[in-house]
Amino acid sequence: MRIGILGSGLMGGKLGTIFARAGHDVIFSYARSTQKLKQLAREAQGSARAGTPAEAVKGSDVLLLAVHWSRVEEVLRQSGDLSGRIIVSCSLPMNAEDTALVVAHLSSGAEELARRVPKARIVSAFNTVPSEVLFGVYDPRRKAKRPSLVYCGDDDTAKVTAAELIRDAGFDPVDAGPLRIARYTEPFALLVAQLAYEGTDGPDLGYRFEHFPS
Ligand SMILES: NC(=O)c1ccc[n+]([C@@H]2O[C@H](COP(=O)([O-])OP(=O)(O)OC[C@H]3O[C@@H](n4cnc5c(N)ncnc54)[C@H](OP(=O)(O)O)[C@@H]3O)[C@@H](O)[C@H]2O)c1
Repeated sequence: MRIGILGSGLMGGKLGTIFARAGHDVIFSYARSTQKLKQLAREAQGSARAGTPAEAVKGSDVLLLAVHWSRVEEVLRQSGDLSGRIIVSCSLPMNAEDTALVVAHLSSGAEELARRVPKARIVSAFNTVPSEVLFGVYDPRRKAKRPSLVYCGDDDTAKVTAAELIRDAGFDPVDAGPLRIARYTEPFALLVAQLAYEGTDGPDLGYRFEHFPS
């Protein structure tokens, strides 16, 4: 797949690198310096290059939105027409201090995003995992027992694409249902962050779901 990364920081930089290593064509976009984007592309060890958000969107099969909530409007503006595009969003609707969700309970960041780009096909994924564990999951990805990762969305084809990327990143995709389920996965992501950064067991505990025999 041709994957456009909108926001090449902790999440976008790592996931873009993983997707390139998994064999996809990646364009890293949206960082404070073009140098950083070029370096990410060089170090990805796959088919990757740096570009603008508009270039990342053009010809893409899927986009990863990975910016702070305060930058979403700006990235969408720079991206141009997103009609029909699949956007896998890991962006959480956090306040400027990153201490609380600014959209929650009766809606979610993912639903708000879908309202802002009604013609795009939004899937919420990857936001329940701390970026620190991504390479640690990808590297031993062929192990029979993979950690699970939830995703949700309203567009079935977009969800198939997202599930493929989740699998390529080394996780076992778990379909949590329609996009409105992001009302529950987004606060869950804050629990994961709490466990990962302020609990006693670190990031590796934070993202795990276990399957129990029924
Ligand atoms: N990090 C995590 O573990 C994690 C986990 C779950 C969900 N999330 C969510 O994922 C999203 C991305 O998080 P992140 O940790 O990857 O954020 P981040 O590291 O800050 O990355 C955001 C990207 O946006 C770029 N950016 C910010 N302001 C900019 C500006 N004015 N002009 C151009 N580029 C700008 C940054 O550029 P630079 O690279 O130059 O700084 C960076 O590439 C957030 O919504 C967050 O809540 C993060």
